[in-house]
Amino acid sequence: MSKDRVNAGRRRFLVAATSVVGAVGVAGAAVPFVGSWFPGAKAKAAGAPVKVNISKIEPGQQMVAQWRGQPVFIVRRTPEILDNLGRLTAQLSDPESRNSIQPDYVDPVVRSIRPEILLVVGICTHLGCSPAFRPEVAPADLGKDWVGGYFCPCHGSHYDLAGRVYKAQPAPLNLAVPPHSYESDSIIVIGVDQKERA
Ligand code: FES
Repeated sequence: MSKDRVNAGRRRFLVAATSVVGAVGVAGAAVPFVGSWFPGAKAKAAGAPVKVNISKIEPGQQMVAQWRGQPVFIVRRTPEILDNLGRLTAQLSDPESRNSIQPDYVDPVVRSIRPEILLVVGICTHLGCSPAFRPEVAPADLGKDWVGGYFCPCHGSHYDLAGRVYKAQPAPLNLAVPPHSYESDSIIVIGVDQKERA
């Protein structure tokens, strides 16, 4: 992966983080003084890393974790799903995640540390709805070419099972991959980078 690509991803992440801090600041200014602004245990917990046991996820199925108030989709991908990912390149807007948010230690195509385990923030990159997990092949409403993925009910964006957005969709970017690492084969820690653990 090129340095430019990594830097572009980090820049976007920093811009997003700065916007959130700014929004919190404005909200804080509008509220009268109600005591202390020191973060309580709840606020600290909201930003803390989250450990998730993935051992019960069946092949082809998804579980949803919560991290920093956001849903995180975790999918155990089958060999068929992984095969299909390689065939979709021409139909995708950013097949190698050059412009999308993901840590530099995940593979840019399958977008994960371990190929079989996908982990993405479950928030559409268009206007923030939560896309539906649609792993079925060729369901009537999504068409005969559908090989499984995510469908956003708000304005119809389609993503594959690596969270990569198809071309000509309202969503501009792939679903974000959050920082994460493996504590063991079955425990993922969301919010702690693989590098920090290494
Ligand atoms: S919010 Fe998902 S397509 Fe608009």
